[in-house]
Amino acid sequence: MSKAPSNVSTRILVVFGTRPEAIKLFPVVHALKADPRFECVVCVSGQHRDMLDQVIDIAGIVPDFDLDVMQPDQTLDALTANLLTGLGRVMDEVRPHRVMVQGDTATAMTGALAAYYRKLPVDHVEAGLRSGNIYHPWPEEVNRKVIGGIADLHFAPTETSARALRQENVDPARVHVTGNTVIDALQWVTKRIEASPELASGLADLETRFAGKRIVGVTSHRRENFGGGLEAIADAIRRIAARDDVALIFPVHPNPNVRRVMDDALAGLGNVAMIEPLDYPHFARLLALCEVMLTDSGGVQEEAPALGKPVLVMRETTERPEGVGVGTAKLVGTCAETIVTEISTLLDDKAAYEAMARAHNPFGDGHASERIVELIANEIGNQT
Ligand code: UD1
Ligand code: UDP
Repeated sequence: MSKAPSNVSTRILVVFGTRPEAIKLFPVVHALKADPRFECVVCVSGQHRDMLDQVIDIAGIVPDFDLDVMQPDQTLDALTANLLTGLGRVMDEVRPHRVMVQGDTATAMTGALAAYYRKLPVDHVEAGLRSGNIYHPWPEEVNRKVIGGIADLHFAPTETSARALRQENVDPARVHVTGNTVIDALQWVTKRIEASPELASGLADLETRFAGKRIVGVTSHRRENFGGGLEAIADAIRRIAARDDVALIFPVHPNPNVRRVMDDALAGLGNVAMIEPLDYPHFARLLALCEVMLTDSGGVQEEAPALGKPVLVMRETTERPEGVGVGTAKLVGTCAETIVTEISTLLDDKAAYEAMARAHNPFGDGHASERIVELIANEIGNQT
């Protein structure tokens, strides 16, 4: 394994490529860049384009490398192959002491694999999430298992995720519970909005159009839901939209497999606003505005409990049981009938709503990034 000499800063290559990775890594990049013990080099894969750029713009991160790999409707094979060779080339040029990846995307998995092929130690942020089903979420469950088999330091957001790693025989001394950096990101953006409200003022027209209505926020993008799952979700949205006291705000993921289904099913409904993906301040504003979130997203399952917003999770399983455990999240699957019944209960039964609408922070306290940076610094100190 490559070792940082004691008299120079440790060069750490931070690799990410999609919106959620960018959101969850920008606080760590900020902390690394502020710390003279580190030289932080940022490589974005460009697995996402506009959705990634929205995050790095607001976070003020200028990547040192941008592989720009995104292709319309990309396949997992081509994406994975391009990422692996591209990230390997960057590692050969940068010659980092360590490589950091986050979560479970194709970028994270190939980043860890390319580092392993060069015997570079990998720092895994958001380690240990497991659903126990390799097809839910697909392909993320296997991606994170691959990273778990490679990583040198595993930064588990919660005790549950740390336990999952120990159960897979990962050395307990290499597993640290840090909290999830998404809470750091959410707190950071909330402060930015407080200081500059105009950063999140772009929903004003919708707020006026839907004044007096009860807002339901929707996101959906999971590959395992493509086809029948997404059609059922669209059907549920249509049925919820039949209520005239409700309005749905739906920033639609640009994946053509999602857009096709939603455009066909939902176009022309007066109280459904299908809009472009929101930048992070505006999404935080949507979270504040809505009464309920309806989502299959991982990150939204973590943010909603922190804000006390009930979240109905349109998945069969979750690798984030903590939100369900504290009562702010509920798994509702992708059956239209169940989704409509569950959301109607929340909208019509005050006690049911209040039982869920309590702020909890099972995913962290907003200091995960500091902990991660300190743990890596300790690791280097122990090596020298
Ligand atoms: C990816 C991750 C998933 C993560 C999700 C977050 C993998 C295999 N999947 O899924 O784990 O939960 O990101 O959103 O790593 N597109 C654009 N512009 C963008 C982004 C995407 O047009 O900024 C379109 C493109 O047509 C692209 C397609 O969406 O080919 C799919 O993108 P991809 O990253 O392969 O999959 P996601 O479903 O976004
Ligand atoms: N998000 C955003 N704009 C949107 C929708 C989501 O900024 O229009 C943020 C959201 O706050 C969360 C993250 O994107 O932090 C979740 O990303 P996504 O659902 O794409 O991926 P997942 O978390 O499921 O991997």
